[in-house]
Amino acid sequence: MNPTAVLVLEAFTTHFVSTPVLYFSPGRINLIGEHIDYNDGFVLPAAIDKGMYYGIAANDTPIINFYAVDFGESWCGSVEDVHKSTGWKNYVLSVVNEFKLLGKNIGGFDCAFGGDIPIGSGMSSSAAVEGGLAFAINELFSWGLSSKELALLCQRAEHNYPNVKCGIMDMYANLFGKKDHVILLDCRSIEHEYFPMPLKDYSLVMINSKVQHSLASGEYNIRRYRCEEGMKTLKAEAGVKSFRDEGIEEKLAQCKHLMSTPVYNCCKYVTDEISRTKKAVQLLAANDLPGFGTLMYATHEGLSKLYEVSCKELDYLVEYAATSKQVPGSRLMGGGFGGCTINIVPKNLADQFIEEVSAAYFQEFNIKPEAYIVAISNGVEQLHGIR
Ligand code: GLA
Repeated sequence: MNPTAVLVLEAFTTHFVSTPVLYFSPGRINLIGEHIDYNDGFVLPAAIDKGMYYGIAANDTPIINFYAVDFGESWCGSVEDVHKSTGWKNYVLSVVNEFKLLGKNIGGFDCAFGGDIPIGSGMSSSAAVEGGLAFAINELFSWGLSSKELALLCQRAEHNYPNVKCGIMDMYANLFGKKDHVILLDCRSIEHEYFPMPLKDYSLVMINSKVQHSLASGEYNIRRYRCEEGMKTLKAEAGVKSFRDEGIEEKLAQCKHLMSTPVYNCCKYVTDEISRTKKAVQLLAANDLPGFGTLMYATHEGLSKLYEVSCKELDYLVEYAATSKQVPGSRLMGGGFGGCTINIVPKNLADQFIEEVSAAYFQEFNIKPEAYIVAISNGVEQLHGIR
């Protein structure tokens, strides 16, 4: 069994007397389509084999018990005690609160959870926490909410207590993941299509810069507000309906003088990224990973220069990958300001690349990065038997 799952089950047995059901709730990667899930774009995420494990059981009392294995901390209270808090508690309590807001009759339960997904790495540990809990208690109390309803509930949960005005991508990937497939998600209609990920001779390598930006959530919301402000101008002055409109590039150019530079740059990045993602999907369907990778580098350039969500450490990692000439695609992944780069690396060169980039990065910043070769996995699921 996965060692983290073992830890979670052991913690459950130490703290509670009930018999748990075990769930795995994955983190996610995103191949392309960054910061456009809240801008009507298309994104291309996938669930991965790193994430959170949940042990959970009803306890026939009015009391909810959480034990967070990674922090060695507990929360205990009744449904009425659920309120905004701090840290990990905000994420789980916000999910419970969203079920309350739907009028669900929540009984007491015991829950231990912990993960092998590094927090702040850009692989969405928060959606893994939210999605895993939402899925598990939906099953526990037989409420029958669909995966889409659960994804939307988790998004509301993240907006509410943690106050991160995120898009739908992370929770969608967490709940809809499919082994060896990427999810092409249309964030306007919230409909998806699966594409087999033609990795064959390539590996997906995450390099964790180990940089965590303390202002990350505030900066994230600022990017969102810049896009909203730009869209207001585009609507009022050029009759634009969405960043997906035909001819948006010309309309944006016409309105440039009416926008501040940061607002214009964010809008420019968004329109570029929407068209890049469309091209990228065609390249993926044609199994052209090197072509796909070129677009990933372009995405990084836009995220760094126009959207301003990179940092010198991430730029260094991507630049290193580009100059090595061995890595067809590399870019920062997720919200930015730190966390991981995602790299498409030929399988036979993956270990060597990890070794070289890690040594160079350490020399430059005196930080030991972490590297993970990830596999594309299913979305949240109950684990029966040994994993
Ligand atoms: C975070 C958010 C997502 C998405 C990405 C950037 O992971 O939670 O909704 O906006 O950043 O693409």
